[in-house]
Amino acid sequence: MRNIVLFGPPGAGKGTQSELIVKAFNLIHLSTGDLLRSEIKDQTQLGLEAKSLMDAGKLVPDNVVIGMIRNKIEANKNAAGFIFDGFPRTPEQAQALDTLLEEHNEAISAMISMEVEDAELIARLLERGKLSGRVDDQNEEVIGNRLSVYKEQTEVVKDFYLKQNKTKTVNGLGTIEEVFGRIKALISQA
Ligand code: AP5
Ligand code: MG
Repeated sequence: MRNIVLFGPPGAGKGTQSELIVKAFNLIHLSTGDLLRSEIKDQTQLGLEAKSLMDAGKLVPDNVVIGMIRNKIEANKNAAGFIFDGFPRTPEQAQALDTLLEEHNEAISAMISMEVEDAELIARLLERGKLSGRVDDQNEEVIGNRLSVYKEQTEVVKDFYLKQNKTKTVNGLGTIEEVFGRIKALISQA
């Protein structure tokens, strides 16, 4: 299996690039943000509990997202691999993912960290917020919270994979096609 963690701050382009990667490499896209939004849409208990945290730009508890990822890995045992988008977001999640994959004699092949400066992230998210209906894109305060949470709780996940020699950084500025070209080259080596 080829198992890729696509990492980066809110608005870096993880979801956009995941769609292209899935087509090029035949991987299964697992976005915890998309999975949580689908729970909210279906008005499940889990969705109801996650909604207020997500609307405020805070992380939902580790056990919730780890459980969702475990179900998806179990349900796709014959996949060519996975692209993890927006997960793991804490070292605890990263450790849990390693353990889950080990249970299937698998491992993360590479972690690709998309680097984009804050001003560009804020501009992209505000622009998307005009159309997307995503509550967490609607104002600069919540976007600011998401960026702070990334810096305070999530960025350290880079060190987790650095220790395993798996972190690769990529410039996330440029056209979507330009960025994809960079990511494609890295995945081809993984
Ligand atoms: P999640 O859904 O993961 O959102 P996010 O990480 O905050 O980031 P986005 O999805 O907004 O950005 P993206 O990097 O995917 O960029 P995109 O391609 O969309 O998480 C939402 C919430 O769920 C969290 O705040 C948390 O509450 C909860 N959650 C999720 N996972 C969790 C976890 N593991 N643990 C705990 N809680 C969790 O692009 C953004 C915009 O930019 C788009 O409009 C796009 O068209 C545009 N764009 C993309 N590429 C380019 C480019 N090259 N140039 C110009 N514009 C571009
Ligand atoms: Mg996304």
